[in-house]
Amino acid sequence: MTKWTPSSWRSLPSKHIPDDYPDIKKLVEVETALKGHPPLVFAGEARRLKARLADVANGKAFLLQGGDCAESFKEFHPDNLRDMFRVMMQMAVVLTYGAGKPVVKVGRIAGQFGKPRSSPIEERNGITLPSYRGDNINGMEFDEKSRIPNPKRLLKAYGQSAATLNLLRAFSTGGYANLRNIHKWTLGFASQSEQTNRYKVLCEKISEAMDFMEACGVTPESTPQMSATDYYTSHEGLLLGYEEAMTRIDSTTGRWYDTSAHMLWIGNRTRQLDHAHVEFMRGIENPVAIKIGEGLESDELIKLIDRLNPENEAGKITLIARYGHTKVKKYLPELARVVKKSGRHVVWSCDPMHGNTIKTTTGYKTRPVDNILSEVKSFMQVLHSENCWPGGVHFEMTGQNVTECLGGSARVVREEDLSSRYHTHCDPRLNADQALELAFLIAEELGNYKKETLRKLAV
Ligand code: PEP
Ligand code: CO
Repeated sequence: MTKWTPSSWRSLPSKHIPDDYPDIKKLVEVETALKGHPPLVFAGEARRLKARLADVANGKAFLLQGGDCAESFKEFHPDNLRDMFRVMMQMAVVLTYGAGKPVVKVGRIAGQFGKPRSSPIEERNGITLPSYRGDNINGMEFDEKSRIPNPKRLLKAYGQSAATLNLLRAFSTGGYANLRNIHKWTLGFASQSEQTNRYKVLCEKISEAMDFMEACGVTPESTPQMSATDYYTSHEGLLLGYEEAMTRIDSTTGRWYDTSAHMLWIGNRTRQLDHAHVEFMRGIENPVAIKIGEGLESDELIKLIDRLNPENEAGKITLIARYGHTKVKKYLPELARVVKKSGRHVVWSCDPMHGNTIKTTTGYKTRPVDNILSEVKSFMQVLHSENCWPGGVHFEMTGQNVTECLGGSARVVREEDLSSRYHTHCDPRLNADQALELAFLIAEELGNYKKETLRKLAV
């Protein structure tokens, strides 16, 4: 292997990185300026996440990763961040209770801007323009000027990421995440829904258990895990110029960390072994996830894992399977079997969103909640039958009451409802009700597996 540097990716082919900035000098200026900006996360935090993910890889914890498909400048608001944070906290409570294992919380947040697109162009009413590629590249408005890549957007995305992280840190350690507050995490608009009622019942049980623990002397004051939480950030490491600028040597270990997020992932469309994205990711110490889908052969997967994690460190690699509900049972078993047999340590996670996107006759991109759930269930069944731990889920979701995915049992979103609150900048997201409903269903599945394992141990 040639020597890795933060810029060694530049000599390799790459996909989905814009090459049509009209003013390259300006881009270089912005990237140079970013190199002097403070890190967004610390190396020690990324190491802590890796240790938590090692627990997931070893079947001792569960990973909940979620957030917007694409963050946007327009939807940037403290209320939206709070709503996302609290719906993830609710889901984590439900999953912790059901699985009886700690839940590692990772947001698709504070940097999830750049998007790979299935087509480089978009056509509307006979007019063709370059596609929207995420707010850190160009604008969503359908006019020529907006669609020109503008390097200044990288600085704005950095600023938004920093402010987002600041608020997330305050939410997770400043008292809001205290387990005594679980009742308060219920979202205003969802206060009457079936999911919220289920959640309230669970809160009662947990509060009773906490009263008991408190009587025994275990309080949020004496036990920091009860008064604060760990919340980590992640995004697709797509724009390598930005990632390079944020990559710094950690003074305690002398190793390279990408300080733009705790965890980065390589998209399904940019995971070619000999391309730029894999090259960049092999040199950083952060935990790295790889989206895997149809077409990936098991021998190539092993090569990818080895390239990114030559020391086979547990917690370094998360494999995010995104096959679609009809295909996961066909393709995943062989990969799980081969990875297990090879002894490579990985976290298995399920993205039930990207393989289940459909277009309605009215032109809306959507995803049926039933198919999302069905993929998660199949994913869990496959991994269980291969004796692997179905370690996590990866959702595109929001704390808002949007109408982007079809179905859900609390307040059913029908095809004719999609247009009422369809706000996403890219793919359709689960709304808070739908996300919580899925958390309950997954918790149930995990609870069943827990019972089954205990039963097996008892005989
Ligand atoms: C995404 O996570 O938004 C995405 C583009 O996913 P994938 O790489 O799996 O298509
Ligand atoms: Co998406």
